[in-house]
Amino acid sequence: MRADLLIYNIGQLATLAGPPGPRRGAAMRELGLITDAALAVADDRIIAVGKSDALAATIQPTATLNAGGCAVIPGFVDPHTHLPWVGHRAAEFEMRIGGATYMQIMAAGGGIARTVADTRAASLATLVVETRGRLDRMLAHGTTTAEAKTGYGLNLSDELKQLDAIAELRRAHPVDLVPTFLAAHAVPPEYQGRTEAYVDLIVEELLPAAWAHWQRIGSSSLRPWSQISRATGEVQPAGAIGQDVREADRRAWNAIFCDVFCEAGAFDLAQARRILTAARQLGFGLKIHVDEFASLGGALLAIELAAISADHIVTTPAEHVTRLARSNTIGVALPGTPFGLGQRDYSPARSLIDQGGALALATDLNPGTCWCENMQFILALACRTMRLLPAEALTAATLNAACAIGLGEQIGSLEVGKLADLLLLDADDYRMLAYRFGTNLVRTVVKRGKVMSAA
Ligand code: NIG
Ligand code: FE
Repeated sequence: MRADLLIYNIGQLATLAGPPGPRRGAAMRELGLITDAALAVADDRIIAVGKSDALAATIQPTATLNAGGCAVIPGFVDPHTHLPWVGHRAAEFEMRIGGATYMQIMAAGGGIARTVADTRAASLATLVVETRGRLDRMLAHGTTTAEAKTGYGLNLSDELKQLDAIAELRRAHPVDLVPTFLAAHAVPPEYQGRTEAYVDLIVEELLPAAWAHWQRIGSSSLRPWSQISRATGEVQPAGAIGQDVREADRRAWNAIFCDVFCEAGAFDLAQARRILTAARQLGFGLKIHVDEFASLGGALLAIELAAISADHIVTTPAEHVTRLARSNTIGVALPGTPFGLGQRDYSPARSLIDQGGALALATDLNPGTCWCENMQFILALACRTMRLLPAEALTAATLNAACAIGLGEQIGSLEVGKLADLLLLDADDYRMLAYRFGTNLVRTVVKRGKVMSAA
């Protein structure tokens, strides 16, 4: 069999191969490890995975990459980021160290409002440049796909400007991006004290406009992907077949989500329900920020609306954790956020997994609570603060994270037919990732079959 690239001499390959869908409960520990492994790529896609000897005998590659006995894992998927923003809030960080709380700073007009002002004042070009720097650092630390939320515009033109930035970066940057519309991130200054009026604006104007805008710019900003021919089983190169793509892939890559910050001081349960119900009718997938500081019952709303994910889940009552574990909604823990805020409470992720739930991990990358572009650090935090095993953390940051943005069939594991998004580690054991922290253990990133950084 012909291949464009054969990666061989892999000491430990974490395939995460298994049945479709997120891993739940004890299955989160199953990594499908293969020792002395190899992996073959044609165009952007994995075409063979197995023992090095067996693949060497059957594959004729154009190029080879000697992994030197290192561990190889799927590229990280970061399913919760507030990626497109302008400016920083280093002064607020200092105030928080001095004792001010995040919600106090927000109530005093700082916090999200500060970043909204900076993002509104900036041109699209500036927004793209600042965001691109973050994407470069994410890729260098092994993130190959990320979700990206709006929510620093909070009016029509500036929310659409954030969507435009996401679309432009989808065209220009190797990291694949999935957009989420988060106009319900905060009540903008011009609507202070009139939250209901802002919710009306979101439901009546912003959501329909964002949906229509994304239908115009979303698919044209997608990078083409290859197809496996039904007739010959051969991989046909990306872009060669125009519109003839698998419908399930097209839908998955074209998706846009809607999210609401359901929190005291932001949007209450009824407002969140109203916004998300309207979004669902338009065709958005649903996500919710719940229980970050106060529990309003958002996890139950996520279950009720069959949201794809319930994110943060820090102050979630035990009974809601049990309900979440039994639902199809993926819990997304963001341990960088309590860490970034210097707080002691973390998500009850251990309990969610022990009750059979599906957990994903994300950075929450944002300028207020967690400016962290590195999923490796999130794994290290998750193991220490939430007692995840390294294997569970890896599953949460790859396959389950892919499922949390609707891409579980396309990425997140190293299986034939999936995109060749993978990482060669500077280590021979995947557990080194969570065990060691503070340095970059990703030696080489392969994104859609292309070697991004040489060993
Ligand atoms: O997820 N919770 C709301 N949004 C972010 C913080 C955003 C900001 O402070 O700019 C979060 O923690
Ligand atoms: Fe967030």
